[in-house]
Amino acid sequence: MLNRRMVLVVATATLSLGAAAQAPVSLKEAYRNDFLIGAAINAPQIRGQDNRGDAIIDAQFDTISPDNALKWERIHPQPGVYNFTLADKYVAFGEKRHMFIVGHCLVWNNQVPAWVFRDRKGNLVDRKTLLKRMHDHIFTVVGRYKGRIQSWDVVNEALNDDGTLRQTPWLKIIGPDYIEKAFEFAHQADPQAQLTYNDYSLELPAKRKGAVALVEKLKAEGIPITSVGMQSHDHLDWPSDAAVDATISAFAKTGVKVVISELDIDVLPHATQNQGADVSLKIAQNPKLNPYVNGLPPAMQKQLAERYAGLFQVFLKHRDVVTRVTLWGVTDADSWLNDWPVVGRTSYPLLFDHAGQPKPAFQAVIQAAAEGKQ
Ligand code: G3I
Repeated sequence: MLNRRMVLVVATATLSLGAAAQAPVSLKEAYRNDFLIGAAINAPQIRGQDNRGDAIIDAQFDTISPDNALKWERIHPQPGVYNFTLADKYVAFGEKRHMFIVGHCLVWNNQVPAWVFRDRKGNLVDRKTLLKRMHDHIFTVVGRYKGRIQSWDVVNEALNDDGTLRQTPWLKIIGPDYIEKAFEFAHQADPQAQLTYNDYSLELPAKRKGAVALVEKLKAEGIPITSVGMQSHDHLDWPSDAAVDATISAFAKTGVKVVISELDIDVLPHATQNQGADVSLKIAQNPKLNPYVNGLPPAMQKQLAERYAGLFQVFLKHRDVVTRVTLWGVTDADSWLNDWPVVGRTSYPLLFDHAGQPKPAFQAVIQAAAEGKQ
């Protein structure tokens, strides 16, 4: 009952826009002529075990990303052993709903099993061996979903905040051209698929510079890169709208499209100076870092709504370049930010609250679309 009622609330929501205008009732409808709008979905949602979440996905989004279902450790846990059970369900979920389906992610330094980089004795493998493993993984996974997954995050988080290449086993063993190789393999496996370089904190000037240089290098070499994914794990106070604007412009100049690939806005106190999304970061629990266990106060809801509206205005300004905006989760209850970088916090980064109800930020995002078209 609750699920049906909630959908009804969202589906019948109208906003006062002055005059007689009526706002569209869903995110995908509001942005239909601008860019796709989506969410990362989790295992219960893929399996149909979260009716509340699935109703929101059905009503609001026209593209999906898998939060974990396609990561190397999940689908390729041991040499030669693939487990596509959940990944197949994920793709079927999107196809049933005629959605734009994103694959996340092929080459990353996290959530990749240790065996990938080691031989039977435990020593690091050589370049040739690791390239073959990368090739086989990409061909198997991208090949399986050829023509069905429309866009792949090919390389994820290859850069440090200072714009240099992150010291990962991929870089150490293969060398810097591991990035080119990953894109080439993905393109060979599905020539029609869109291919993305995906990273966080790209608004940091040094990181942005490094990313622009990387994209320019790939383009100069004829590597088939379609877009840069700005993850956009944002905060109320960072990055500024102007920095987001400048970053999208900088990537647009290189000739690639931009996707906002993992949007959320953290309202909780900063646990560190670091703005990023490095999943290895862990900070001890402390009540001061978890101030809203009983709900987000109205003043904070308002700040969050204004922040979302500002960002969407920037995305709309770049609607010729921004092809997709994906939120990293469906409701606040699903967000990774309940457990990062401090485990067990109550977080409020998305557009639907812990009970699955639309927040003021949802209304603000719908309103931003209407205002952007006036
Ligand atoms: O599945 C296990 C479950 O069996 C166990 O009981 C539970 C206890 O902790 O853990 C569950 O696994 C967790 C998994 O999410 C599923 O919820 C992992 O501990 C947790 O580390 C994992 O976090 C994921 C994180 O990537 C890890 O890298 C988040 O869900 C996922 O949203 C997040 O996504 C990343 C993007 O891929 C790349 N960019 C940053 C973004 C946010 O961190």
